Amino acid sequence: MSIQSAPIDKKITVRTIREMKGREPVTMITAYDALFAGLFDGEVEMILVGDSLNMSFYAEPDTLSATLDQMIYHTKAVCKGARLPLIVFDMPFGTYATPEQALGSATRVFRETCAEAVKIEGGREKAPIVRKLTENGIAVVAHIGLMPQSVRAEGGYRVQGRSEEEAKSLMEDALALQEAGAFALLLEGMKAEVATRITETVKIPTIGIGAGNGTDGQVLVWSDMFGFFEAFKPKFVKRYLNGADLIRDALRQYREEVRSRAFPDEEHSY
Ligand code: KIV
Repeated sequence: MSIQSAPIDKKITVRTIREMKGREPVTMITAYDALFAGLFDGEVEMILVGDSLNMSFYAEPDTLSATLDQMIYHTKAVCKGARLPLIVFDMPFGTYATPEQALGSATRVFRETCAEAVKIEGGREKAPIVRKLTENGIAVVAHIGLMPQSVRAEGGYRVQGRSEEEAKSLMEDALALQEAGAFALLLEGMKAEVATRITETVKIPTIGIGAGNGTDGQVLVWSDMFGFFEAFKPKFVKRYLNGADLIRDALRQYREEVRSRAFPDEEHSY
């Protein structure tokens, strides 16, 4: 059954997202520039300027080399394109190793962009960082489960929560981060029943990616879901568009018309 969603016509805030828990699912998508952020404006509640851009826009093998300057540059562009969604800034690797460093980095983000929250990866060991940020007026989305910034330490991307011990540890992370003041949890790459159990236990909204259907919301990387990023496709990615095929088809038609001199025709000439 397809449900046609009405466009969103009001500004979404941290409070809106908190209040959606248990009422309405939250839809989140990544964006990296003004053009696409403008297309997403009014269509989703949240935009994440994700460090995944390091892979899809910069062809790097992982997210670890993304820098604060690079992320601020892209967030400024997203801010120009989107007015209504809550914009979340993904803190890059190495910019929030201590509470003081995290506050310095996030303060810069808040001063230089329109981001309304930051996202950090890590479990209960990051609770002091979440507390420091929230005590200083910076809203935090805490990202647990599969954490792409740990890919080198982990030796790959591995689905989390497969054993009861891992599931218990994820629950402890979720509760500690909630207690520290995170207003939402991003649950990535974990067994669906574990994500559902966390969602039913915590009071803050959970947003899943590769975490099944029991979370309070979902997030996808735009270039994955629209089929522009072709290097690999995780199992959890549903392609809603075959973007790369559409571009190639259009480009081939354009080249054919240039070569046959069918373009430009009278309609497209002065
Ligand atoms: O960087 C990103 O796009 C993310 C998503 C995988 C949630 O963190």
